[in-house]
Parts: sequence; structure tokens; C-alpha cells
Amino acid sequence: MQDGSAPTPVTIRSAPRTIDGTDAWNLVRQLLAAGTPDGRAGPLALANDGGWQCAGKYTPEAESVFEIFLPLVAARAKARRTMIVALLGQSLDGRIATLSGHSHYVNCDAALLHLHRMRALADAVIVGAGTVALDDPQLTVRRCEGTTRLRVVVDPDARAPADRKVFADGRAPTLLARCRSGDPVAGTETMLVPRKDDAMDLDALLDRLYARGVRLALVEGGGRTVSHFMTTGRVDRLQLAVAPMVIGSGRPSIALPPIERLDDALRPPTRRFALGADTLFECRLGD
Ligand SMILES: NC(=O)c1ccc[n+]([C@@H]2O[C@H](COP(=O)([O-])OP(=O)(O)OC[C@H]3O[C@@H](n4cnc5c(N)ncnc54)[C@H](OP(=O)(O)O)[C@@H]3O)[C@@H](O)[C@H]2O)c1
Repeated sequence: MQDGSAPTPVTIRSAPRTIDGTDAWNLVRQLLAAGTPDGRAGPLALANDGGWQCAGKYTPEAESVFEIFLPLVAARAKARRTMIVALLGQSLDGRIATLSGHSHYVNCDAALLHLHRMRALADAVIVGAGTVALDDPQLTVRRCEGTTRLRVVVDPDARAPADRKVFADGRAPTLLARCRSGDPVAGTETMLVPRKDDAMDLDALLDRLYARGVRLALVEGGGRTVSHFMTTGRVDRLQLAVAPMVIGSGRPSIALPPIERLDDALRPPTRRFALGADTLFECRLGD
């Protein structure tokens, strides 16, 4: 304009940011930190039953993050005993590793990100002695924001090698659950747990973990340890991250006592989510 009058101020409104998977995870973490079964974090509202509403725009990945994690946040806050989520990454033919124990990696990056988010959600990450011996895992949160609170190794016969990272790296506390005392492992607390039916009494272990404030534990493998937890009826959610891969031989995922007829097979209510090339099946086994 050439008439000498002052230009009209123009307000440039930036479009509201679309919530992506990382934003969604950070909102979930805010609700987790609040420790209540319902609440608000920014545009996100969580209801007591795990239902949610988000006032902003969000991507499909963000929606999956809300759908997967918010029911667990609500359930954890209400848990009256340690809630168990068991997670295994497996091939189409139900293998979690080769016979020699090689398992890096069955799953794609998106499924590994999910695993690390599950670690960050959990108050404790539990693995069996076989996984510690063969994989030497760190069990820490590295692929997303969050912390590793407690690592628990189920080692009834005190066989796990003491030089493994989970005992030696000092990156998070580690608890060694044994049925017999064995040699002490430097920097690691040992908890003696009674046996029941020739195996570790997992109810006794979980009672003790609950007394320490563990409301939600992630059982991360291997197959034998997850199967032990399933046999005792203590798995609330079974998450299987299935990769489009056929190993054809190897270490099995879940192995339960044999049944005669398919009528006796478990057919739990199941939700499905895409994790990159992999598919996550979440089976509701508990309340
Ligand atoms: N793809 C995945 O998601 C994934 C995840 C984890 C591990 N892995 C792979 O899985 C393999 C290891 O799995 P795995 O099934 O052979 O071993 P595992 O489950 O890691 O450990 C098995 C050991 O756990 C002990 N255990 C656990 N719960 C028990 C209970 N209630 N009572 C008695 N003992 C109990 C037993 O120790 P004792 O023998 O001392 O009795 C058993 O030998 C490795 O190759 C690893 O790479 C894959």
C-alpha cells in the first residue's frame, strides 16, 4: 500500500504439531510418572479403564503407542499384585533363537523400540539364566526415553556366569533370584526363593517383588522362563512380536504341558499392532 497508513499486523498462526510416536511415548511417560489410573498429560486424557482421548492430531504410530501402553499404565496403577507382561520376539514358526542360541535379531527396529519402551514402562525386567548366559543382555533402556529400574535374573541353580553385563556394568540395580545360595556375585543382590514342584516358586518371587514396589514386571525371555510364568498362571498379558521369518529349527518360544484336544488350547482375546515389518500380538491372559 502506498497511502502512508500503518500496515495491519498479521498474526501467523503455526499449525498445531501432529503428535508422532515419540511425542506419544513422552505423554505416556508423564501419565506413568503420575502413578494414577486416570489423569491428563497435555492434550491426552486417560480414563480409569485404560480408555483415552487426545485433543490434538496424531499419527497412526502415536495411536498405536496410546493403544498399547495406556491400558497398561492404568492397570499398573490399580495392581494389587505384580502384574506380568511377557514379551517374546519370534519367527513365523515359533522360534526365538537358533539351536546354538543366536537371536540377534529376530525382530525389526520398530519391534526393538517397542521392547525398550516396555522396559521403561516396567518396574522390573525379568529374564532367565539361559538368556543371561547366551545373550549377555544389558536389559537397559537405550532406544527411547526412560529408565531401567530393576533387572531380575531367575537362576534357580546358581548357574549364570558372574561376568555377564547385567551383573557387572552397574547401569541399573540387578537382583539375582536363586533357590540355592551359590557363590556371591559382586555388586549384585541375591534373593533366595523357595522351590515348588521342582521349579522356582514364582508366586513367592513375585510377592517379594511386589513388597518392593514392583507393580508391573516385564518377563523378557527366554522361552523356558516365559513358559514357567505361564504355567503358574501369572502372565497377565502375553506379547508376541512375530517377524516374517522362518528359522526352521531352534529354541522354541512357548512350551506348555501337552494337551490332547484343541478345545483345551488357549484362545485369549487378542489385539494386533503393526510394528514395522513385524506384527505384535497382545493376548489378554489375566484380568
Ligand atoms: N527372541 C527373543 O525374544 C528372546 C528373548 C530372550 C532370549 N532369547 C533367546 O532364548 C535363548 C534362551 O532361552 P531359554 O528358553 O533357553 O532359556 P531362559 O528361559 O533364558 O532360561 C532358562 C533357565 O531359566 C531358569 N528358570 C526360569 N524360570 C524358572 C523356574 N520357575 N524354575 C526353574 N528354573 C527356571 C532355568 O534355570 P536352570 O537351568 O538353572 O534350572 C532354565 O534353565 C537364548 O538363545 C536367547 O538368545 C530370545
